[in-house]
Amino acid sequence: MSKNSLPPTVVSIDDLRKMAKRRLPRVVFDYLDGGADSEITLRENCRIFDDVAFRPRWAVAVPECDVRTRVLSFDLSFPAILAPVGYSRMMHRGGEVAAAAAAGEAGTIYTLSTISGHPLENVRAATKGPAWYQLYLVGGRAVAEHSIDRAKKAGFNALVVTIDTPVAGLRERDSRNGMKELLGGSLFSKLPFVSQFFARPRWFASFLIDGGTPPLANIVIPGQGPMPLIDVGAALASAVVTWEDFRWLRELWPGPIIAKGVLSADDARRAVDHGAAAIVVSNHGGRQLDTVSPTLRVLPEIVAAVGGQTEILLDGGIRRGSDIVKAICLGARAVLVGRAYAYGLGAAGQPGVSRAIQILRDGVDRTLRLLGCSSIKSLDSSYISVPNSWK
Ligand SMILES: Cc1cc2nc3c(=O)[nH]c(=O)nc-3n(C[C@H](O)[C@H](O)[C@H](O)COP(=O)(O)O)c2cc1C
Repeated sequence: MSKNSLPPTVVSIDDLRKMAKRRLPRVVFDYLDGGADSEITLRENCRIFDDVAFRPRWAVAVPECDVRTRVLSFDLSFPAILAPVGYSRMMHRGGEVAAAAAAGEAGTIYTLSTISGHPLENVRAATKGPAWYQLYLVGGRAVAEHSIDRAKKAGFNALVVTIDTPVAGLRERDSRNGMKELLGGSLFSKLPFVSQFFARPRWFASFLIDGGTPPLANIVIPGQGPMPLIDVGAALASAVVTWEDFRWLRELWPGPIIAKGVLSADDARRAVDHGAAAIVVSNHGGRQLDTVSPTLRVLPEIVAAVGGQTEILLDGGIRRGSDIVKAICLGARAVLVGRAYAYGLGAAGQPGVSRAIQILRDGVDRTLRLLGCSSIKSLDSSYISVPNSWK
């Protein structure tokens, strides 16, 4: 599919979501779309943006609109970074390589999850932009040391340490749809779920050509080789990251370390004390502990606590360029987007990711012009109003 082959009617992230739903079997779509338990945080992450109202300045000419920004020392064409999304290769066989290429072409950063189907060296080579490597300690410190060393040699520019996954959250849709069986069960245990695959023949053919579910190329167990996908859940449960690990990581990784999963001022201060160059205010897109606050709601508290000491990024619920602008007005330097681009990947591979990025970028530009603001760097809280209960 060529880059421009998506129909012009695809104008929003929700359009890409619908396309992904049509192309992917239910088990894969729900893995991407779903959240933990009752999915309250998942929904709130998106809804909370409606509580913030814009305060535009009319009759202001904005002939040039500058949406570029800088995160740590990296120049971005607009303030959104692609978040780590595990098992991307199930959404499309191009997976992490396709998403990284789209990010590089668009002038932004791609973050590769530890739970990746493509070798990290291939992913790094696919993007001409910066790339970050997201670390889980699955398999233990020795396994992590090996992949950190590979990431360093391959030229990854920062290490993102996810702190909110002491165990995987309960994604009820995954259990009902047979995600475990897809990842590694016997042929017999897959049988009840087979009709989902036949209902999506294009995806199924591509999945078979890709060799089914390849093992995790970046988690290499000594003496055994790459970890099979099925083992990840159990491995995560014995892979909790602690602040103590930040000291050890500091010695291994010479570049910036970013703490992902901060949801309170206290943890933000701890991250700064432990040398985090930036933090990501994140609840894992509502996939871990359900009923934690939506990220936009805790952003002001965290900005007040550590805004002067570290760069603050936010993810969760970003579906429009206007959401990005609101997060920046509340003090984020930039955002990470997860599902927004993963829907594009599931819908159409690399062109779908490119379209997602374009939709968000155009949305930021248009919102700035409608606000009467000529640059990202001039955004502040005077462009929005928040509910009284936030003050
Ligand atoms: C399908 C899926 C897989 C994810 N895998 C990872 C992962 O491997 N590591 C990680 O730190 N976060 C992971 N996340 C969380 C994202 O990095 C990000 O925090 C979240 O998607 C942001 O919310 P949003 O999807 O509403 O943009 C995943 C999210 C999704 C949707």
